[in-house]
Amino acid sequence: MPEKTQCTIQVFKVHTLREMQEAWRIRNVVFVQGQGISLEGELDGLDDQADHWLAFCTTHGPVGTIRLVEHAAQEGTCKFGRLAVLPSHRGTGVGKALMRAMHDVTEVQGRYRTIMCHAQQDKIGFYQSLGYELLPGDTFYQERIPHRKMRKLILSQVDKSI
Ligand SMILES: CC(C)(COP(=O)(O)OP(=O)(O)OC[C@H]1O[C@@H](n2cnc3c(N)ncnc32)[C@H](O)[C@@H]1OP(=O)(O)O)[C@@H](O)C(=O)NCCC(=O)NCCS
Ligand SMILES: [Zn+2]
Repeated sequence: MPEKTQCTIQVFKVHTLREMQEAWRIRNVVFVQGQGISLEGELDGLDDQADHWLAFCTTHGPVGTIRLVEHAAQEGTCKFGRLAVLPSHRGTGVGKALMRAMHDVTEVQGRYRTIMCHAQQDKIGFYQSLGYELLPGDTFYQERIPHRKMRKLILSQVDKSI
């Protein structure tokens, strides 16, 4: 277990294949090895059209990732997912830093009014603390893991100035 007091975290958008490979490596550790999700389910074919972010620890290297895709069926809506933080770096704000970086970009872009996610049931509290609300509807299962749909309304720069 690394000494986390030495950790300074920076979040940046993925631009290179090398950075993308780091994101895949983290997702593999967290979802495939950690949660028993199939590799086919993890690599669902949406990565090419997504925006990705990496959380980088200045002492230990890449430690977290998240992605954002346009919602194919709902105009003005985007969907984030694949939020993953290496076990060694959980509980120190990396997950929230990734969420905030993703929120900042979507707010500035002004492209979307709503951001949604399929939240693993035991992460609902985490997303509520970031302004997400549960959508009506039953629990559903993805890769045998219970999920609920959640969403957050985005305040764009334009909305804020009114
Ligand atoms: C969920 C996950 C990304 C959180 O990342 P993290 O870096 O540990 O989270 P943070 O340290 O930023 O947590 C921030 C806050 O959320 C809280 N929190 C973390 N996990 C939580 C949970 N499951 N339920 C409720 N609150 C939670 C923390 O207590 C902390 O609270 P604070 O701000 O009051 O101190 C991480 O646990 C993870 O990668 N899990 C495995 C993959 C996964 O489940 N991804 C999400 C799929 S929907
Ligand atoms: Zn570190």
